Amino acid sequence: MTGEIGELNPPPRLLMGPGPITCDPRVLRAMSTQLLGQFDPAFTAYMSEVMALYRRLYQTENRWTFLIDGTARAGIEAILVSLISPGDRVLVPIFGRFGHLLCEIARRCRAEVVSIEAEWGAVFAPEQIEAAIRQHRPRVLAICQGDTSTTMAQPLDEIGAICRRHDVILYVDATATLGGMALPVDPWQIDAVSAGLQKCLSGPPGSSPITFNQRVVDIVNARKHVEAGIRPPDYVAGNGAPIQSNYFDLAMLMDYWGGSPLNHHTEAASMLYAARECARIILAEGLEACFARHRTASVALSEGLTAMGLTLFGDQRNKMPNVTGVMIPGGVDGEAVRRLMLDDFGIEIGSSFGPLKGRIWRIGTMGYVCRKENVLHCLGALEATLRQCGVRAPPGVGVDAALSVYRTAETKPA
Ligand SMILES: Cc1ncc(COP(=O)(O)O)c(C=O)c1O
Repeated sequence: MTGEIGELNPPPRLLMGPGPITCDPRVLRAMSTQLLGQFDPAFTAYMSEVMALYRRLYQTENRWTFLIDGTARAGIEAILVSLISPGDRVLVPIFGRFGHLLCEIARRCRAEVVSIEAEWGAVFAPEQIEAAIRQHRPRVLAICQGDTSTTMAQPLDEIGAICRRHDVILYVDATATLGGMALPVDPWQIDAVSAGLQKCLSGPPGSSPITFNQRVVDIVNARKHVEAGIRPPDYVAGNGAPIQSNYFDLAMLMDYWGGSPLNHHTEAASMLYAARECARIILAEGLEACFARHRTASVALSEGLTAMGLTLFGDQRNKMPNVTGVMIPGGVDGEAVRRLMLDDFGIEIGSSFGPLKGRIWRIGTMGYVCRKENVLHCLGALEATLRQCGVRAPPGVGVDAALSVYRTAETKPA
């Protein structure tokens, strides 16, 4: 049998879709580090390092900054299921597919979900969000920072203050943006945030770094019910409704990450090694330098695509710096182009779904992939591929335009 199934040997690819992206080799190396028992002092020291690293990435003093094992939606579920008691009203401003996901998860937590919707390609003004809060009086506001389905980023700097004024808990899904653009959690008064590794953090999917503040801790601890078999002798259950998930119970997870020897689950050690390395790499580069790298790539790619005669998708003032949406020219089969890019150049770019299905490609420049040479390869490859499909741009214009953005950035004083 083993003779028939060969060793893993995937074709070399450059992943430039909306995520996952090509993983940083340092992260892959960290994942092959030998396992330790989860209560080994060396391992618990790594857990503490992870908490400290992600506090810096999230720009927060929150003690409770740790990993949820699972892909990004595991972090979303852990926060929402622990925060929302059945019947709580949750407001979700939707500006793409992942807003719908927040509604879906909140509904499964038995929230009364109300939403407002922006057209795909646009985001909300803070006044619109405040008006909806006034109208619906939610307990929780759940919103994405960047929605990869539309490539738009919602400005959040004023939303936290609005939520505090109305005594609303603010949860942000930063899966697609953490490490790629600013998210100063404490200055922006965000109560809870979750992310994933597979985008700007240059890691694989499978771990979700989260952070939350005392306002969330108070709600969660009031619902604390520790499972029989691991209850400490002095255990007193909270008065609130038990959290409806065991795996995602933040009250028990706080004990697990807080140093009590609560044997809640077996920590996904290799993912913890990965998450540790992802954060370490970004902080070694510097948060601001990392954001600037994403901004420059975004401008260079956008200029390159426009020079080729293509049209960018959405309100460019609110474009995510790490994903670019570009309209598929009329008469071109977007899937055929993606296939040729993959077969001829080994480059994966993204398609789209919902109202944008067949209308735009999404090109990711995030994390490890966000580099000058990849932007240039991608533009050159797209130009050649489009030519095969009968769309002609003057040869080299895309690459030249992007290169000139990089030249200017390189000569600017830091
Ligand atoms: C904004 C946002 N939220 C949530 C998710 C879901 O992440 P995962 O597939 O890792 O569960 C994604 C994935 O693309 C995303 O972009």
